[in-house]
Amino acid sequence: MIKPHGSNELKPLYVADDAARAALAAEAEKLPSLLLNSAAAANAVMLGAGYFNPLTGYMNLADSLSVAEKLQTVDGLFWPVPIVNMTNESGIEAGSRIALRDPNVEGNPVLAVMDVEAVESVSEEQMDFMAEKIFRTLDPEHPGVATFKSLGRTLLSGSIQVLGFSYFKADFPDTFRTAYQIRDEIAERGWEKVVAFQTRNPMHRAHEELCRMAMNDLKADGILIHMLLGKLKPGDIPADVRDAAIRKMVDVYFPANTVMITGYGFDMLYAGPREAVLHAVFRQNSGCTHLIVGRDHAGVGDYYGGFDAQTIFDEEVPADALELQIYRADHTAYSKKLDRVVMMRDAPDHSKDDFVLLSGTKVREMLGNGIAPPPEFSRPEVAQILMDYYQSL
Ligand code: ADX
Repeated sequence: MIKPHGSNELKPLYVADDAARAALAAEAEKLPSLLLNSAAAANAVMLGAGYFNPLTGYMNLADSLSVAEKLQTVDGLFWPVPIVNMTNESGIEAGSRIALRDPNVEGNPVLAVMDVEAVESVSEEQMDFMAEKIFRTLDPEHPGVATFKSLGRTLLSGSIQVLGFSYFKADFPDTFRTAYQIRDEIAERGWEKVVAFQTRNPMHRAHEELCRMAMNDLKADGILIHMLLGKLKPGDIPADVRDAAIRKMVDVYFPANTVMITGYGFDMLYAGPREAVLHAVFRQNSGCTHLIVGRDHAGVGDYYGGFDAQTIFDEEVPADALELQIYRADHTAYSKKLDRVVMMRDAPDHSKDDFVLLSGTKVREMLGNGIAPPPEFSRPEVAQILMDYYQSL
C-alpha cells in the first residue's frame, strides 16, 4: 500500500490503548486547561486520526511561517498549511503540560493533552504574511481569512496525545473514519488503486460523473468518497443532509463494493489551492493513490482561478514531495446533445447552448424557492432529500 507522508508507518496521535487512555484522561482532569478554538480542536482530531502524519503536534512560529511561505517546515518536511494552536489566553508557560478542552462538545471535555514547548507572540505583520500566503488574499470577507485572523495572537506549540474524536464519531458513527481505519478497510477490500473524492456538498451529477470518469480512466479498484464533517460557512448544506444524499446516490447509481462512503473531522478552510494540497497529503495518509481535483476545488467566491488548485501541484509541489497523484478534472457539465455529463474538454460541441450549467448558488436559490433542481443537475433521489431539508428550514 502507498506509504504515509513523511514516514514509513502511520503514527496517529490518538492513544489507542484503553488503559493508557483512561490514565491520561484521569491525569488531564488535574492539569491546567485551555479551551481550544474550533480550528485548533479540528487540528487535534486530524492529528489523532493519523491524517496529519508525521506531525507530532502543533507547529511553532518558525515552522508556521516557513510552511506558509514555502510549503515546508524549517527541517524540510513538505507541508502546505500551518497546523496551529493560537489563543488569546495568557498565563500558559513553556514547559507546562496542559489539558486541551473541546469547544464543540457540551461540557468541554478534554480532547487532548499537550506538552507546551514554546509560547510565542504572533505580530499583526506575521498574521497577515501567513494569511496572504495561505489564502492568496487578505480580504476580511473571505471566510478562511476571517477565521484565521480571529484565532488569537499567542501561538502554543508542542506535541499532543489525543483522547477522542470530538463530536464527529458520536454524530456520524457510520461515516466518520480515521486515516488508519481507512487504510485497514482498503487492505481488507484488497484495493490497490484507490481514488479519493473530496467533497463538502451533496453530490450532484457533475460530482457523481467525476468519480465514474476517474474510476474508468485510472482503472481504479475503488472510490473513497471522503466528505468534510466539520464547520462550514453559512448557506453550505449541513453534513447530515449531505451524508444522506450521498448514501442514496451511491446506493442507486454505483455498483456494489466500488465505493467507500467516509468522512473526516475538519473545518473547511476555503483555502483553494493550498487546501487542495493539504487534501492530497491526508488522502495519501489514508492509503489513497489518487485524489480528484476539479474546478475551483476548496474554493469560495471568486478568490481563485478555476484551476489554480491543479496548477499549484506543478508550481509549488516538488515532484518527490508526495506519492499520491492528482486526477485533473476539467469543468463538467450536462451536454444536451450527448444526453450525459461530460468534461467540457471532451465534448464535441463547445457551443454554450449545448451545456446545462448550474452553479451551487443557483441551485440553493431554487431549493429555497421550493423548486427541485432539474434531473440534468441532480438525481431525483438527491433532489428530494435536499427539498425536504429546505422545506424543514
Ligand atoms: S470542495 O470545496 O469540497 O472542493 P465540492 O464538494 O463542490 O467542493 O467539490 C468536490 C470536488 O468536485 C472538487 O474537486 C471540485 O473541484 C470538483 N467539482 C465540483 N463541481 C465541478 C464541476 N462542475 N466541474 C469540475 N469539477 C467539479
